[in-house]
Amino acid sequence: MTKEVFTLRSPDGQKIELPIRKGTTGPDVIEIGKLFKECGVFTYDPGFVSTGSCESKITYIDGKDGVLTYRGYRVEQLAKHSNFIEVAYLLLYGELPTSDQLCQFETSITRHTMLNEGMLRFFNGFRYDAHPMAVVSAVVGSMSAYYHDTMDINSVEAQEIFAHRIIAKIPTIAAAAHKLTAGQPFIYPRNDLKYAENFLRMLFAVPAEEYEIDEVAVEALDLLLILHADHEQNCSTSTVRMAGSSGANPYSAIAAGISALWGPAHGGANEAVLRMLKEIGSVSNIQKYVEKAKDKKDSFRLMGFGHRVYKNYDPRAEIIRKMCHKVLIKMGHLESPLFDLALELEQVALNDEYFIKKNLYPNVDFYSGIIYRALGIPTSMFTVIFAMARTVGWVAHWREMITDPNGRISRPRQLYSGPRERDYLNIEDRVRDHPVG
Ligand code: SDX
Repeated sequence: MTKEVFTLRSPDGQKIELPIRKGTTGPDVIEIGKLFKECGVFTYDPGFVSTGSCESKITYIDGKDGVLTYRGYRVEQLAKHSNFIEVAYLLLYGELPTSDQLCQFETSITRHTMLNEGMLRFFNGFRYDAHPMAVVSAVVGSMSAYYHDTMDINSVEAQEIFAHRIIAKIPTIAAAAHKLTAGQPFIYPRNDLKYAENFLRMLFAVPAEEYEIDEVAVEALDLLLILHADHEQNCSTSTVRMAGSSGANPYSAIAAGISALWGPAHGGANEAVLRMLKEIGSVSNIQKYVEKAKDKKDSFRLMGFGHRVYKNYDPRAEIIRKMCHKVLIKMGHLESPLFDLALELEQVALNDEYFIKKNLYPNVDFYSGIIYRALGIPTSMFTVIFAMARTVGWVAHWREMITDPNGRISRPRQLYSGPRERDYLNIEDRVRDHPVG
């Protein structure tokens, strides 16, 4: 079969044929690796809007039709029929587990939930009001100082131990970060509890009384963990792949991903949505803020709206909105002013010419914060929970990258627009004609 090629003509008239590669589904890609060698030019795509950084078999997104699949399964079906531990297995190993495989996997995760006692002392070094994302990224990075046995990134066994360890421990670390700022004692995990309920208990339980597990809260959290588990080559996942490509240990690569997720343009948006809704305050202020979001001179953006890939409804937002309703009824917050405000804001924005023209729809972060708040989870913990879920996707992508036989260090190039070459200037000959800082 003749290989399809993309033909380019260089500025000096030279014809260049670049191979086209097809995936299982989705856009084809043009392999440009030889472009610099043969033409002496780089491609240029700040923000990587049209650039594929790797080949992956994990998650597929169709932004036009609002489709998201994990290893080929629609996220709507997984949300309806599966649970987070089973989805974690699917993302890591590529297939849904048999009951024995699921039992073995869940037992292994459960038995790795405790932290090395030395790590617990680490938490006491933080200020009482430290943001939990700062604590979690630091503690995850410190795991490379504790787990030397899983630092051989080329050992299949070490990769497996790392994967189970980090997925198991991230809820314990997350809950401990909250306890630190709440001034409450750390709560140890329990092996008789499932993943989501174990986390809620570590987050909310106090030694003074028994913690009563709320089934709707567990169901809502498990669903949110499924929906946040992976999302193709997003900013934080690309960060994990980039950091891991140098051969750095996997704990440091995950810590880098946590830091990237923290930004308000990415995982930090769920916390920013709550702050934004509180700032808007009432339905009567919505139009003013929608106008601010449209004003190019104003840096304000509608947090929880827009997406680099989805130019249609984010399928996750739709599922979360329905769960929002169920949780609010159960938690007795049905008259939740924030939820009503969010529903009204969504309607105003979706009927506004600017948002329609730019295909700006609510994304995964728009409603999740309302559920977290209804569950009593502090706003500063919203992105931490996103990181907890995304750890599974980061681990799956890290392992796919590290086991790629064609893998190499990620090292992009640039368009240089700085000063031309010039000679050193002695200090007495220098004049301050440049702005300082
Ligand atoms: C996540 O990548 C992923 O998959 C991420 C994620 C995942 O699961 O990993 O899905 C999770 O990060 C979701 C996104 C959370 N972020 C927010 O909700 C923050 C608010 N949204 C944005 O800042 C923005 O929409 C981004 C960051 C999400 C997308 O940015 P892009 O793709 O770079 O788009 P852009 O900034 O170039 O915007 C295109 C246009 C611009 O106007 P023009 O310059 O063309 O005139 O749309 C406007 C923007 O000004 N725009 C918005 C807007 N988002 C985009 N205007 C007002 N409010 C907004 N929210």
